Amino acid sequence: MSRGYFITFEGGEGAGKSTQIERVAETLRRAGHKIVVTREPGGSTGAEAVRHVLLSGAAEALGPAMEAVLFAAARADHVDRVIRPAVERGDIVLCDRFMDSSRVYQGVTGALDKTFMTALERVTVDGMVPDLTLVLDLPVEAGMERAAARRGGETADRFEKEDMDIQQRRRAAYLEIAEAEPERCVVIDASASPDAVAHAIAKAVRALIRSKPAQPEKQLEKAGD
Ligand code: TYD
Repeated sequence: MSRGYFITFEGGEGAGKSTQIERVAETLRRAGHKIVVTREPGGSTGAEAVRHVLLSGAAEALGPAMEAVLFAAARADHVDRVIRPAVERGDIVLCDRFMDSSRVYQGVTGALDKTFMTALERVTVDGMVPDLTLVLDLPVEAGMERAAARRGGETADRFEKEDMDIQQRRRAAYLEIAEAEPERCVVIDASASPDAVAHAIAKAVRALIRSKPAQPEKQLEKAGD
């Protein structure tokens, strides 16, 4: 059996991740790929329960470190039950947010200890590092406007409420990750038209599939030795 691909989508508020994930999913399905669309926090039964606790703000009182542990617990379940099995059976997994969200939201703007965050990431991700991470980059003002419009009359969630300065730091942190890991990350200009963004994403995904053709498990095991 051939291994599939694990692709994550990252970015600040209102970058248009969910719309773009649906678009690329459709393009890939039409090309004959099996696609799993999922999201974090959540994506598995256990993780969706934790999502509610996190986004309602019920866990805020536990402090940023324990919130990070909850995100990690949700991620571990999601990796074990959804992501790894899908990639192992040859599917393409498209995931709305993953480990970089924890690095940025908890690690950088939550000001958590680097060693703690690195250790948490290692046990949680457990080798399931994305093959490709698309960082949808957008000026903060534009993202906040889009997020507010999308919400309509609804109140902002725990993480949408935070101010401009924090959002700027998150944007910078994402760009720093992309710069540090160019073999995994591609920055997409999310201020372009939806069609142009979709085109840039499709191009990056095609490049991944060309550069890492689906490999039989045996070769993968050898490559990992
Ligand atoms: P969601 O409603 O899915 O927002 P978005 O459309 O912005 O993806 O809410 C997810 C929120 O959780 C988002 O504000 C980012 C935050 N988050 C973290 O703080 N750490 C994490 O590890 C993840 C996955 C998300």
